[in-house]
Amino acid sequence: MTLGSPTPREGQAELASLIRGRRSVRAFRQDAVPRGVVEAAIEAAGWAPSPHGRQPWRFVVVESAKRRLGLADAMAATWNAQLHLDGQDEATVRHRLARSRDRLVTAPVLVIPCLYLADLDVYPDADRQQAETIMAIQSLGAAIQNFLLAIHASGLDAGWMCAPLFCPEVVRDELGLDILLHPHALIPVGHAASDPVRRARIPLDDLIADWL
Ligand SMILES: Cc1cc2nc3c(=O)[nH]c(=O)nc-3n(C[C@H](O)[C@H](O)[C@H](O)COP(=O)(O)O)c2cc1C
Repeated sequence: MTLGSPTPREGQAELASLIRGRRSVRAFRQDAVPRGVVEAAIEAAGWAPSPHGRQPWRFVVVESAKRRLGLADAMAATWNAQLHLDGQDEATVRHRLARSRDRLVTAPVLVIPCLYLADLDVYPDADRQQAETIMAIQSLGAAIQNFLLAIHASGLDAGWMCAPLFCPEVVRDELGLDILLHPHALIPVGHAASDPVRRARIPLDDLIADWL
């Protein structure tokens, strides 16, 4: 072991504290986020496991205030229609749209993890092709977790939003993204304006469904 590197037990405690400390923040201050922090987090995302090592992800960073506003407005139009479709009343729709817009406009940086399928294996049958795509999505989740942990380790916060999944074309068109990029999430990054309430976790005994 190299002199000065943590002992395994210290390393475990550090990792546990990082994993438990990461939280979904939904209200941000407007303080700037250093570019290096975002780059380091995207680099950490890229170290996630992936099917055949194909790294089926790309990340879009939206820092320009004008672009964030444009994206918020474009997505709001879709969400507005969907909330009305769900039968939500006008006041609730307005409140939810305003809150979501606030998140996108206040956080100084938005990161959009995209699924990138161009390098995946191609199969002659639909079942294996579908499994390949599911594996890619699973690994995108692992990459996003790496990203979130790296942001948290650097003293900043982030929060996973699923909105682009419901309007990928809107996000792609608004930002002029390549057709091969499939926006799967939206992650505001910044300094937390308040501490979120955390959900209790399922105890270990219940997490282990079977140990055979
Ligand atoms: C795939 C996925 C989609 C999510 N989408 C949203 C979302 O659209 N809006 C939101 O506020 N939180 C979203 N979350 C965050 C969860 O609500 C959050 O992780 C959960 O409540 C546990 O809180 P914690 O992250 O602070 O531990 C999402 C999380 C995941 C994994």
